[in-house]
Amino acid sequence: MNQDDMKKAVARAALDYLNEYDMVIGMGTGSTVNYFIDLLSSVKSRVDAVVSSSDATTAKLKALGFHVKELNQTGDILLYFDGADECDQHNRLIKGGGGALTREKVVAEAAEKFICMIDETKRVDLLGGFPLAVEVIPMARSLVARKLVKLGGQPVFRQGFVTDNGGEILDVHHLKITDPVTLEQEINAIPGVISHGLFARRGADITLIADSSGQVKTQ
Ligand code: A5P
Repeated sequence: MNQDDMKKAVARAALDYLNEYDMVIGMGTGSTVNYFIDLLSSVKSRVDAVVSSSDATTAKLKALGFHVKELNQTGDILLYFDGADECDQHNRLIKGGGGALTREKVVAEAAEKFICMIDETKRVDLLGGFPLAVEVIPMARSLVARKLVKLGGQPVFRQGFVTDNGGEILDVHHLKITDPVTLEQEINAIPGVISHGLFARRGADITLIADSSGQVKTQ
């Protein structure tokens, strides 16, 4: 089974968590989420509305006839579904390979339960092998980059990419993330940082992990 097949398998398993009708759910961004949305079409009656984390996800949801609701017009979200780039044994995550990390973090925060869908290649003992995406306001990019170097990383400007919020992305390589909660706070505290892809304080509540035989285990 290749990685795409594992993404489809884990997306199928996540559907089991939609066990009520007329639910308001949150939706992340990425290829795993896209597989999940396709499958969700077959059980549309269970979903009253979806709060989206990106323009790309919103477009896909609307094309399939889902009711997309603004977070500002929504109370609590029951479940948030999203993929990740890395996940450790405590369900702490690196996200943001697709650049949607800020809204993903906001919608995840609004949800009672975050269900993360990954394949086994993304399950790591130590976070940081995957570059950490840091979204910045454009005029602060160089300042933030220098601060990130002091934290031990090697930031690389994601050229030609603008986020849905008008921000820019620095992909930070070679961070040794031994204390994810502290590092999350330290990067949050740099002026000019909009948000970043380390989900440590609020990681996933449940991570579903597909292996190469198509089995899905829960962590
Ligand atoms: C989007 O910004 C990311 O956080 C994605 O959720 C993450 O990169 C996983 O993407 P895939 O499902 O495409 O691997």
